[in-house]
Amino acid sequence: MNEKKAVGEKAIEYIEDGMVVGLGTGSTVFYTISKLGECVKSGLSIQGVPTSKQTEKLATKVGIPLISLNRVEQIDVAIDGADEVDPDLNLIKGGGGALLREKIIATAAETFIVVADPEKNVEKLGSFPLPVEVLPFGLKMTQKKIQELGLTTQLRQMQGTPFQTDNGHYILDCHFPDRTNLKELERELNLIPGVIENGLFLGTADKYITLDRDNNNSIVIRQRNNG
Ligand code: A5P
Repeated sequence: MNEKKAVGEKAIEYIEDGMVVGLGTGSTVFYTISKLGECVKSGLSIQGVPTSKQTEKLATKVGIPLISLNRVEQIDVAIDGADEVDPDLNLIKGGGGALLREKIIATAAETFIVVADPEKNVEKLGSFPLPVEVLPFGLKMTQKKIQELGLTTQLRQMQGTPFQTDNGHYILDCHFPDRTNLKELERELNLIPGVIENGLFLGTADKYITLDRDNNNSIVIRQRNNG
C-alpha cells in the first residue's frame, strides 16, 4: 500500500468548487496535488496558492490554476504534509525547506489539513530536527543567539554549499532539550532579529489525515481539540 498516496488523496474530499486552496510541499501532498489536477480536468473549479517553487511547478504541470496570495482575501483550505505530528496535532515542518511560505499559508487558511503517514506520529515533538529559517546576513550571530536558548544548530547543506530556501535564506536544523516549553521556544526564536521563522506549527492544524497501523491501515481523520 502506498501510504502517502492514500492519505494525500483522501484530503481531496474537503475541496469544493470555487475554493482557494493552499497547496503544501513534499512527497505526501504530491499525491493531493496530482489528484486535484485530475479533478480540475474533470471540471472542478479551484484556484491554488503554492507554498514553494517546487509545488508551483507541479501544480502548473497538472493543470491547477494558480493565484498569488496577494490577490486573495482568504484561503479556504490548505493541505500540507508534516515531519512530526504530536497527539494534539502540533507539528514540526520544514524538512523540505518551505516552512516560511507554508506557515503563512497555513495560518491564512480557514481550515488547515495535515496529511502524513503514521511514521510521522510522535508522542513528543523533537526527534526530527527543528528547521529554523535565518537570514544569511549575520548568520554566526544568529546561530549564537539560538544556541544561547539551549539549542544545537546545524547549517543545512546541499551539495557542499548552504541550502537556500525559495526566499534566499538559510536553514539551521536545531535540536532542543527535552521538556522545552514549545510555545515559549517558538516565540523566543522569532524574537531573534536574524530569525525569519521556525518550523513549529502549534495549534495551527485543524484536521489530520493519517492511517491506523493497528486497524489494517485504515484512514483516520483526527480533529484538533480546541480546549
Ligand atoms: C516542506 O518544507 C515540509 O514542511 C513538508 O511538508 C514536510 O517535510 C513533509 O514532507 P513529506 O510529505 O515529503 O514527508
